Amino acid sequence: MNRREFLITTSVAALVPRITLASTPTELVAQPVSAQLLPDGEPTTPMLGFNGSTPGPVLRVRQGEIFDIRFLNQIGEGSAVHWHGLRIDNAMDGVPGLTQDVVEVDAEFAYRFRASDAGTFWYHSHNRSWEQVAKGLYGPLIVEELTPPDVDHDLIVLIDDWRMTEAGTLADGFENMHDQAHQGRLGNYARALVEPSTPVRRGDRVRLRLINVATDRIFPVEIEGADGKIVANDGMPLVSPQELSSLILAPAQRADIIADITSPDQIAFMFPTQDGPYLLGEIPVEDANTERQPSEISALLPNEVTQPDLDNAASLTLTMEGGAMSRRMMQGMMGGDIWAFNGQSGLTDTPFHLFERGQTARIRLVNDTRFPHGIHLHGHHFFEVGADDGLGAFRDTTLVDAGETRDIVCVFDNPGKWLLHCHMLGHQAAGMKTWVEVA
Ligand code: C2O
Ligand code: CU
Repeated sequence: MNRREFLITTSVAALVPRITLASTPTELVAQPVSAQLLPDGEPTTPMLGFNGSTPGPVLRVRQGEIFDIRFLNQIGEGSAVHWHGLRIDNAMDGVPGLTQDVVEVDAEFAYRFRASDAGTFWYHSHNRSWEQVAKGLYGPLIVEELTPPDVDHDLIVLIDDWRMTEAGTLADGFENMHDQAHQGRLGNYARALVEPSTPVRRGDRVRLRLINVATDRIFPVEIEGADGKIVANDGMPLVSPQELSSLILAPAQRADIIADITSPDQIAFMFPTQDGPYLLGEIPVEDANTERQPSEISALLPNEVTQPDLDNAASLTLTMEGGAMSRRMMQGMMGGDIWAFNGQSGLTDTPFHLFERGQTARIRLVNDTRFPHGIHLHGHHFFEVGADDGLGAFRDTTLVDAGETRDIVCVFDNPGKWLLHCHMLGHQAAGMKTWVEVA
């Protein structure tokens, strides 16, 4: 098997690059960059990045602060930046054609908003995202709690995959219809980038902020060498922290984990595949922390959440259709309209639904396709309704398996026009998107 094939079994430890932690910049310049995705000594990969690197710089603000950044577009085609998961002012949401004009070549846009929720978020291009994100236009956005949890290290773990050629370039064909009609553009090379890359000690308590920044791949992740709990999903604290056992991240989803290091050697991030576990990356463990006393992992302080009015909730259904092996596909798609919501592919002039501000809605997401989809709503978080009909995790992206139906409950309290789409970006490119309006 070719060593760059996805299932390489050699250690990728040496590949985890050193990203330097800079303080939050006041400008984000999107530009071509070259990245050392392959091991040192092998060719670099031409990509797109922010301020000279992909991933872009870590943006950190404290909860409640105003986030102010000038975006300059030097990538040679239109772009815009979306602040994924942040419940912000609609005009700052970064969706060309819906909330702003595309930022043209060599033009700029001033983004300014209040970061009212603490948590783990990320930013990424929202113009031709299936290509611009695949090429590296993204980075982490961390909103720090005013009273952060007591940990020894706060580490960001970005998980991505790339489709590489032999020469170390990204394979082209970003709009390949076969990919779009199936699971999207899956890479043949995957990695977890840890930032900052400092060694930790056995006995240390760490916070791990996992972010799946891949365009299309769902990552189940197993963490070895640390024992702990999931304390937040998609940036939002869980009322009771959950066991770490089954962690699955759809594209764009995040998990915050607080864990104690049990291994004397390393924390390893494993991706289980049919052909065995694939090592995405690791954090070296050096010496031991003898001072830390064992203690419970407690919940993070909650962000402000408006309780839904279930008795008066609007009831809606959004059915995912299309893709390979579907009736829609058999009938032949027009102009790349491979996927649809309720029979409609792509954005229409009128919203899928117009909500009154503050209205609660229960939306039934019906996956009538042969593929899983990660459905993302802009500007809001929503509750996943559990099998017991109770309100479960509060997220901005929900993974609905092939053939599955999932209800979500959302309080539409953020005025404006908000995109609702599959975050498998190849599916979004091929029609799986719509929008809602909150008056
Ligand atoms: Cu992560 Cu429509 O966005
Ligand atoms: Cu999808």
